[in-house]
Order: sequence, then C-alpha cells, then structure tokens
Amino acid sequence: MKKARVKLEENSYEVLIGANIYPQLGGYLRKMGFKGNAVMITNPIVQKLYGEYVQQLLFKDGFGISTFTVEDGEAYKSLESAMQLYGALCNMRAERSTLIIALGGGVIGDLAGFVAATYLRGLPLVHLPTTLLAQVDSSIGGKVAVDLNNYKNIVGAFYQPKLVMADIAVLKTLPEIEVNNGLAEIIKYGVIRDPHLFTFAGLNLRMIKGFEPSVLQEVISQSAAIKAEIVSEDEKDIGARNVLNYGHTVGHAIEAVSGFNIKHGSAVAVGMVVAGRIAVSMGKFNKMEFLKIKETLESAGLPSSLQSLNLGLRPEDVLEAMKYDKKIIDGKSRFVLPRSIGSVFIADSVPTAVVKQALESS
Ligand SMILES: NC(=O)c1ccc[n+]([C@@H]2O[C@H](COP(=O)([O-])OP(=O)(O)OC[C@H]3O[C@@H](n4cnc5c(N)ncnc54)[C@H](O)[C@@H]3O)[C@@H](O)[C@H]2O)c1
Ligand SMILES: [Zn+2]
Repeated sequence: MKKARVKLEENSYEVLIGANIYPQLGGYLRKMGFKGNAVMITNPIVQKLYGEYVQQLLFKDGFGISTFTVEDGEAYKSLESAMQLYGALCNMRAERSTLIIALGGGVIGDLAGFVAATYLRGLPLVHLPTTLLAQVDSSIGGKVAVDLNNYKNIVGAFYQPKLVMADIAVLKTLPEIEVNNGLAEIIKYGVIRDPHLFTFAGLNLRMIKGFEPSVLQEVISQSAAIKAEIVSEDEKDIGARNVLNYGHTVGHAIEAVSGFNIKHGSAVAVGMVVAGRIAVSMGKFNKMEFLKIKETLESAGLPSSLQSLNLGLRPEDVLEAMKYDKKIIDGKSRFVLPRSIGSVFIADSVPTAVVKQALESS
C-alpha cells in the first residue's frame, strides 16, 4: 500500500492507495476513534458492485452501516439529492459523530461531501473513491459541491475528509471511457509537476487500461501525491492550486458549449493541447515537447483538438464560453501554460487571437 498525506494542520489526512485494501478500512476507522454507526452514500451501480462487500467488511469490524443510494449521474449532484439525504439523516437521528462514507466516483464524492459538510454543520467524512478520476483527483482536496441550473459546482464548500482509501481493485469494472477520463488528469499531473510520471504513464498506457495492479498503483499514488502536495500548499484555491487548472480554462468552456455532452477528461485533453499550442506560439514552450503531450493524449484514446471531438463546436463559441468561467479575473482568462514537461506558468493576458488560432488548429 502507498500513502500520500494532505498536510493541513488539524485537518490533515492520509490518502491510502493499494489493491484489495478495503478489508483494512475498519481497522483504520477504529484507530481514528470511530465506532458505532456509519452512513454509506453510493449509487445503485456501485452499491451492487462493491457496496454490500464494504458493508459486510465493516459489519465484521463492529460497525453498523446504513446505506443510502442516489441515482447515477451528474444530474443527481443536486440540491434535491442533498435534501433527500438530509431527510434520511434526520430520520435516523444522525449525530455530529455519525461518519459519512462516500463510496463512488466524483459525483457521489462531491454530493456526499457536500451533505457531510452541511448537515449539523459538519459530519466526519471518509472517501472511498471508485473511479480513476476520483482516486487521483476529486476525493483529494476537500472541494465539495452540487450543481444548480446547469452551473457546475456552484454551491459548495471546502470540507476535508478524515481519510481517503483508494482501492485500485475496484477499477477493473470501469468502462474504458471512464479510465480515459482519469488518464487525462494523470497526464495533467505529469505535465504540471512530474516528467517521470508523464513518461511512465505514456509508456504504460496499455498496462493501465488492462488494470495491471503494480502500474496502476504507481500512477495513482504519484498523482495523488502531487494533488496532496498542491492542496497542502493552498487549501482554499487562492494561489498554488491554480496550476491544477492546466487544460481546464479551455476544457470547462468546451464542456459548457457541448451542453456537458462530453466527458470532462476529453475536454481537458483538448484544453491541454490548446494551452501547449498557445505556449509554443508565445515562444515559451518547445515544439517537440508539445508534440509529446499531444501524442501521449492521442495514444491514451483522448481527443487532441476541437475538430477531433466531432461535435461541430466552433472556436468562437468556446471563446465566448470562456468569459463565463468562474476563474476569470478582471475579464481576462487565466491560462496555465507549460514551460517544459513537468513545469507550468500562469499567463494572465493571452491575446484572444492567439487563443483562437490554437483552437482552430488540428
Ligand atoms: N471535488 C473535486 O475536486 C473534483 C475534481 C474533479 C471532478 N470533480 C467532480 O467529479 C465528477 C465526475 O466524477 P467521475 O468522473 O468519477 O464520474 P462519476 O462519479 O459520474 O462516475 C462515472 C461512472 O462510473 C460509474 N462507476 C463508479 N465507480 C465504478 C466502478 N468501480 N466500476 C464501474 N462503474 C463505476 C458511476 O456509477 C458512473 O456511471 C463531476 O461531478 C466533477 O465535477 C470534483
Ligand atoms: Zn479536471
């Protein structure tokens, strides 16, 4: 088992990564002082695959588990779902000490985290992320939220979990499109912080897609360590955490223009290539390294241009959508651009014409 640590003084926590580690969960919870009843929040798909198994393991360790399921899908990351969960917690007379266990992908993690953050002004939270994206990204860092009126993550909080346990054995049931979704973020971590991770992931794409445990453990733990380190530097997203948005300025705009009909990872993959192109055209980034990023994303099965999405999205519309990004400061889109693979910089005022040209290229 590998460990990463998010260091936030009294809010610090461990991220545990390994194959078949759920049997150790009860022991960890006990050591952390939890006992009695806990609530597991999941969706019907994950419940069927792993929910009962986790419940039984915890039962053997002396925990009583009530499980609440929320329908599958981003549409259920909503205040309505939160209301239902609040009602269920109220009915069972949940107390300040009642532990919430989020078992699922980023949707369940964000929703259960939001409920944990707000019910009785905060219940302890443990994440059991079951998608590659959730294991390397959404379960780490304490951003919890629900969507409202088509605005993603618009109502939320910073609320750190007590523990994250990423059992990589559960990834084997993920559809390939979900693996690719997580891979985009792994490649992102490589570009922003770690050339070795970038190369290792690129060379082992087939092993990752084949769920080879030692390779998965390596890329997930290295990615989790990078996310944990960056969050430790900037819990509330006012500085260092910016670099995590590499590929996301354009990525978020593409998601919005597509009506959220494409996967986040695909949009971010295009965004990473566009950011690379911008950096090359500004003379800040080497063309060979740019091509390496593009080719690695393509080999991973991810799109690398607006055209390759085949949705007929227009560069003008993407530019327009960028104006509505939450991260806009003083009307200018902020770009995270690569300087070399493993290092990025922030560019605050990239000329629109340069962005447009990068969006038009294939
Ligand atoms: N909080 C953060 O910092 C943060 C960061 C990135 C993304 N997010 C959020 O995460 C969400 C996306 O998360 P996601 O990509 O995990 O999507 P998801 O939670 O919708 O899961 C994707 C699909 O995989 C299924 N699934 C989950 N685990 C499975 C398993 N082990 N085997 C088979 N199927 C499984 C789910 O039921 C779902 O159908 C978005 O709402 C996004 O806003 C949050
Ligand atoms: Zn992302």
